Amino acid sequence: MPTTTASRTYKAVNFAEKLALIAEQWQPRVVAELNDYQFKLVRIQGDFVWHDHPETDEAFIVLEGELRIDFSDGFVRIGPGELYVVPKGVEHKPFAAGEVRMMLIEPRGIANTGHAGGKRTAPNDVWS
Ligand code: NI
Repeated sequence: MPTTTASRTYKAVNFAEKLALIAEQWQPRVVAELNDYQFKLVRIQGDFVWHDHPETDEAFIVLEGELRIDFSDGFVRIGPGELYVVPKGVEHKPFAAGEVRMMLIEPRGIANTGHAGGKRTAPNDVWS
């Protein structure tokens, strides 16, 4: 068994284990923090909403599936093992034809839908 102290554990974060605990799509789960930044795992499929994050960049690391992110003037495809950073203030809309499992890296307290709101807005700071 891993040894645990009050503030840390001697067990690596296993993405597959953490993803298996996530029952619902579009519900990011925090798995670690780095200073003020959070590493989140999420499963998505279908269309997200157009939004931006005026105060921060947002990193997408795809683990499984193929993610497309649409922009006002183009799009990017991100496959397993690939990383893309959306600059702050740039409007974007993630889309996944089949299920995508990915990691998001962004500062603590950032809403997944930015200021757009709506039904895709997920509770923040939920740990897995
Ligand atoms: Ni975003």
